Amino acid sequence: MALELLPVVLGDFLVPRPHDRASARVDPVGDSQPLVVGDLGQRRGKRGRDTLKGVVVVVQHDDVPRRAETGPGAAVDPLFGRRGHAPIVVTSSPVSTVTYDVEAVRARFSALQRPLAFFDGPGGTQVPDEVIDAVSRYYRESNANVSGPYETSRRTEALVEQARVSAGAFLGCSPDEITFGANMSTLAFALTRASSRSWREGDEILVTKLDHDANVSPWLEVAHDKGLVVRFVEIRDDTTLDLEDLERKLSDRTRVVAFPVASNAVGTRTDVRRIAELAHDADALAWADAVHYGPHGPIDVADWGVDLLICSPYKFFGPHLGVAFGRVDLLETWRPYKVRPAADTPVGRRFETGTLAHELLAGFLAAVEYIDSIGWEAIKAHERTLGERFLNGLPESVTLYGLPTMESRVATFAFNVEGMSAEEAATRLGEAGYAVWWGDYYAVEVMKRLGLGDDGAVRAGIVHYNTADEVDGLLSEIERL
Ligand SMILES: Cc1ncc(COP(=O)(O)O)c(C=O)c1O
Repeated sequence: MALELLPVVLGDFLVPRPHDRASARVDPVGDSQPLVVGDLGQRRGKRGRDTLKGVVVVVQHDDVPRRAETGPGAAVDPLFGRRGHAPIVVTSSPVSTVTYDVEAVRARFSALQRPLAFFDGPGGTQVPDEVIDAVSRYYRESNANVSGPYETSRRTEALVEQARVSAGAFLGCSPDEITFGANMSTLAFALTRASSRSWREGDEILVTKLDHDANVSPWLEVAHDKGLVVRFVEIRDDTTLDLEDLERKLSDRTRVVAFPVASNAVGTRTDVRRIAELAHDADALAWADAVHYGPHGPIDVADWGVDLLICSPYKFFGPHLGVAFGRVDLLETWRPYKVRPAADTPVGRRFETGTLAHELLAGFLAAVEYIDSIGWEAIKAHERTLGERFLNGLPESVTLYGLPTMESRVATFAFNVEGMSAEEAATRLGEAGYAVWWGDYYAVEVMKRLGLGDDGAVRAGIVHYNTADEVDGLLSEIERL
């Protein structure tokens, strides 16, 4: 694309998408010839589908040049929506190969400065110091409840609002569509109850055998109370979701299809868009559990077409908190369980009960900033490399459950070691300095489907702060068991 055409193209088509946070990192622009063409500040709040094609978009913020992807996916300011004042710079120069510096990333985590390799991300990730600092700063500088006529209360109100904006940008939705809660399970129990108040006996709910129980039991309880029917969508032998079975099980009584974006046991991803389409074709809601997927890639509820989605920031480098997205027109029709004087707007707020954990919202903001500073492209590429390394290095004595390559999965691996219980293997790995899990991790149905008993399987989860050395060390330790 010719450089001189760009301002026109930008004016017509570049509508930044808040969730385009591709490959932002500190990277010298080098010999490019940047051209400032706009100010993101003026574009704050706009959303759309178009992206530039065939050019590199570089964003400069303060003195730190950042760049987005090349080619068909050329993207916009990864920080859009949060630091709207940064100018867009367009360059036609070739992209330099960007190296991901895992040691620089790890230096941001005090928690990682110990001789323990954390493969327990699926149970909760470590948090960088900036998240810890944000939480303690809140207590020092802003601690108060909302709605008080004084400074710290106003600061807290601003923080809550900012957290909604950040969560909206993180999930690809409006800030009004955000509900904060204690964790995913608590939100799920509240929202399933609120959503189904008008459903009738005999109405049906589809859940899947790939789900964590927190996306199943809330429905079982609602079904118990209201005489609804819960049906389980099967998984295939390779642990992928059986969409034909899903289609077969949809009926004109189906009210919701609840499913995971990725399995917290075997790492399998699902075809979220397709599931949402199938649900909508049957006039049912598409209800996604993105808890496990959270640290592994960008979430985009608008692009995915889901009606409701819940995730947990403690799985993506933030504090213990839950965040839900609900389509605004849907939430407006649900009657919330709340105290009478509680605010009715924004609509997501109606489903929050009592005082929010303000300090954790401060930590949440810092966690999203942290992810933005690394960029999903870097995170995905690093995890894929380490995931392949793990899969390729698995010793003969290991039985892996789930997909054998990094296609259609995240780097979460369930396995057993010949001649040894999962508990014993995990305990010995823990003693050797490798933090892994064992059991069913509340993924009750998938473990049953795999024929695994109470002992379940060992689980090792890779996130972007893990290193190749840690993976090699884990593989050697497994071999030694
Ligand atoms: C896929 C999945 N869904 C739901 C949950 C429950 O999340 P929370 O602890 O936030 O209630 C988990 C927790 O491990 C999970 O992995």
